[in-house]
Amino acid sequence: MKHPHCHGASARFVVVAALAAWLGVSQAASPAFVVGDPVRVTRSEMLLFQGKNLAGAAKGQEFTLLKHDAAKKQVFVAFMKDDGTLVAASLPDEAAEPAASRATSDLVRGAEAFRDQRYDEAKRLFTRAAQDKQQAALAGALFTRVNGAIGSASLARTNAASKTAATTTLQTLRDTAEGLAKAGMPSLALPLDEGTDRLGAQVPGLTVPATKVDRPDLTKRATISQRSYLLARQAFALKQLVTASKHVAAGLEAEPAHVELKAMQPLVQKDVEEADSLCKTAKKLQRQPNGAVHALSAIDDGLKLCTDHADLRELRKTLAAAFEERTSPQVTPAFLAMAKVGTAGTILEEGRKLYTVRCTECHDLEMLDGRSLAGWSGMVSSMGRRAGLNDTEKSRILEYIGAAQKVVEAGGAK
Ligand code: HEC
Repeated sequence: MKHPHCHGASARFVVVAALAAWLGVSQAASPAFVVGDPVRVTRSEMLLFQGKNLAGAAKGQEFTLLKHDAAKKQVFVAFMKDDGTLVAASLPDEAAEPAASRATSDLVRGAEAFRDQRYDEAKRLFTRAAQDKQQAALAGALFTRVNGAIGSASLARTNAASKTAATTTLQTLRDTAEGLAKAGMPSLALPLDEGTDRLGAQVPGLTVPATKVDRPDLTKRATISQRSYLLARQAFALKQLVTASKHVAAGLEAEPAHVELKAMQPLVQKDVEEADSLCKTAKKLQRQPNGAVHALSAIDDGLKLCTDHADLRELRKTLAAAFEERTSPQVTPAFLAMAKVGTAGTILEEGRKLYTVRCTECHDLEMLDGRSLAGWSGMVSSMGRRAGLNDTEKSRILEYIGAAQKVVEAGGAK
């Protein structure tokens, strides 16, 4: 795409000066949490919706901020359910921090602000996007063209002689929307084109050039792209990579130039291939005499990469008994003799029950010899909050894990 307005020394100066002015405004006004910007989850946390558990969020996962309720110490973020409906999920504000906004998302938000006639917001977002090297040219061009069209429409409202010039700037926006659509960016093209209608309608008697894009097609594409991106990002954060890869493919089909989806695609592919290969290894090992035990690690590693790998899940089910020995051995007399702990068998049994029921609500149990007891202690305390466990329940679980780990490390109680 060409950006004719970016060329020429004087035009460039005007853009830079305008960008700098907007930058000053946005920096001075920015509080800690900004609605519309992303927030990052800082610890493993449970998202709530209307007081009920909605979904687990992984440390590092990002969401769009909808609201910060400082009094209730909660943030509300946009969460997309599997059926594609968006809900406002809440989490404690101490478990979230502001994250850097991506330039590509600033561009889309800027175009949407232009569509909704929030012109200052549009310019602020284009300005911020222009700070990113990759998006600077596009952001600068959008800023210049949108700013030019807003300015000339405003002139034309009071001065009939300026109407021709206003029509020309609107034509530039039509051409830009067409260029963006052809470049595979419906999420940008659509709001820009819709905003052009609205801006033109503000000037009575102005000749507004006709749209050059297929609006129904762009609407369909933009909707699919935005939904697929949110679902892909959520699935990716939880390592549900088979699901993620489906959404990535659907999103890229609708919006071929989607920067984040393009970046995610090879990462998803690589880990799914790795999980495929671990699955093959596990199947081979399983067929060998006494191979089941060795297959376990391959299955476990594969599912850690890709939790929704169908063949690996199936294998894990087939080898459930072998997995139980390594993840949650039963409290038998042999177990107690081997664990050599002072804790009563009934207490350990209670801990095992809590562990196998409450800690499997969201995922499988890990191999007990996979982390140190101190590591388990940290996991039980952070995950325990998610699972809604009280202190006694957490300590029961940890007592069981301590004893069971000894048994597993000694080769099992059989
Ligand atoms: C409400 C859902 C949920 C419950 C209940 C839950 N977990 Fe988790 N757990 C998760 C999610 C999601 C992850 C993925 C990583 C993350 O969120 O930090 C995870 C990850 C883990 C991991 C791997 C962490 C890592 O960094 O490799 C362990 C170990 C774990 N959980 C143990 C437990 C234990 C022990 C319990 C019971 C006290 C438990 N989980 C209960 C959702 C849950």
